[in-house]
Amino acid sequence: NFTVKRIGCIGAGYVGGPTMSMIAKYCPHIDVYIFDLNQTRINAWNSDNLPIYEPGLDEIVQERRGKNLFFTTDYTEAVIKSDVVFLSVNTPTKHYGLGKGRQADLKFIELCARQIRDSVKTGHKIIVEKSTVPIKTAMAVSRILKTSSDSQATFDILSNPEFLAEGTAVKDLENPDRVLIGGENPAAIKILADVYANWVKREQIIQTNLWSSELSKLVANCFLAQRISSINAVSAICEATGANVNEVAHAVGMDKRIGSRFLQASVGFGGSCFQKDILNLTYLAEHYHLKEVADYFYGVISMNDWQKQRFAQKVVHKLFNTVSSKKLSVLGFAFKKDTGDTRESSSIFICSKLVEERAYLNIYDPKVSELQIMDDIMRVMNDAYDGDFSAHLDTTPESEMVRRCVKVIKDPYECVKDTHAVLIMTEWDEFKTYDWKKMYDSMKKPAFLFDGRNILDHSKLEEIGFDVYSIGVAEKNPAQW
Ligand code: NAD
Ligand code: UDX
Repeated sequence: NFTVKRIGCIGAGYVGGPTMSMIAKYCPHIDVYIFDLNQTRINAWNSDNLPIYEPGLDEIVQERRGKNLFFTTDYTEAVIKSDVVFLSVNTPTKHYGLGKGRQADLKFIELCARQIRDSVKTGHKIIVEKSTVPIKTAMAVSRILKTSSDSQATFDILSNPEFLAEGTAVKDLENPDRVLIGGENPAAIKILADVYANWVKREQIIQTNLWSSELSKLVANCFLAQRISSINAVSAICEATGANVNEVAHAVGMDKRIGSRFLQASVGFGGSCFQKDILNLTYLAEHYHLKEVADYFYGVISMNDWQKQRFAQKVVHKLFNTVSSKKLSVLGFAFKKDTGDTRESSSIFICSKLVEERAYLNIYDPKVSELQIMDDIMRVMNDAYDGDFSAHLDTTPESEMVRRCVKVIKDPYECVKDTHAVLIMTEWDEFKTYDWKKMYDSMKKPAFLFDGRNILDHSKLEEIGFDVYSIGVAEKNPAQW
């Protein structure tokens, strides 16, 4: 007779916010509370200016907030009083100590488990791992929860990884390919499945054991990223031989066994998940003495790093082997379109490489703030992945250089004006609608365009007068500079 009247979620981020909003939308009979330690983030969720941009999310939050959807820093309301508690905190790559740069840092997950154990003393709760975690994390959570000496509380632990992609979170949540629930207790699995069944077809809600569920999430991201690295590897062969990567991707993707999605050659994948999760899996493989497995998946990251580097090098090479003191315009800074998120964006790496080459950069992105762009480039140039470095970041010579060389410009036409080259870094739709003749006329000549996403009409741009370079398409006159 366990009924779900209230659901709580720890972590009001890119996953917690949209996921819980969707539950609130389709389960008006359930109150949904999202808790975060970060007061600023909670304030933003409670304002008209949500902390993340996702098409369609504003409407859902507007509709449910204050009715059955609450964003709060009140732990009791969100966690202690809830029947089901989702853990949706960040699990970044560790940036210190053992496993630095490889292993997932689970300190936030562990903290959540300890806090729940220490604060929940009666009743039964279902704890749901929503965050992406290494296999066997549920065992650690379970052990911690069971070690209270003065508690009558009981817990079920479920794994329910999230497969949404940023920019399409609402669509993905509304119509998921599958909902995956891993657990040991069929009754607990059924309770969570019943929540999703309010809008997801039963046959799409699949059940596995805990470890398969935890592992499936890492594997899904490795496979997706592997497709991008594969097509990006092919793009280099195309450039060398005269094949066209778009044609190859189309021809190959029409094989139903392969499928056409995630074969878009690009300047390299970014985002908070792919690299982190591949590192996570390779670290696990090594832990189990499976070096060959680790090496195999690590290749996906190496290829991605090479693709980013190749792009930066091509820009320098084509601009007569020097960009020093030249002005370049960068269109797009988010790691993909329809999001303001820049985590691991290829733009960051490429901009920092070009600043190292002493180029001046004008950067435009429709959704990313100036502060974020400057901070991202400074961090990479200072090689400082650790939040603790923030205090010093402002005063280093590298940061001074970024401030001197990088300008963030709010208007795309202003951004491109007087520059030697345009670099398309994110596939924002609006880039396709620009008046490229007007852009060309305002640029220095020869005017170069490097399409890192293959989204523009290159013949048209060449007709206008641009020297166009794209990913995976051989140059027309390679002998020419
Ligand atoms: P995020 O950084 O946007 O959000 C995490 C939030 O958790 C932050 O607001 C942080 O303040 C909060 N938090 C951390 N510790 C806390 C604590 N002890 N108490 C309360 N709040 C706490 O992260 P995200 O992108 O939402 O990712 C969360 C998890 O979901 C990660 O494991 C990630 O790998 C996974 N995931 C992310 C995506 C994505 O597209 N971003 C997709 C699928 C899965
Ligand atoms: C990814 C997974 O898709 C999602 O299922 C998981 O839950 C979280 O990680 P996300 O990182 O938000 O989602 O975006 P995704 O659409 O996967 O794109 C990741 C990166 O790959 C972006 O930089 C994107 O531009 C790039 N990409 C994607 C390509 O370069 N080519 C493609 O064909 C597809």
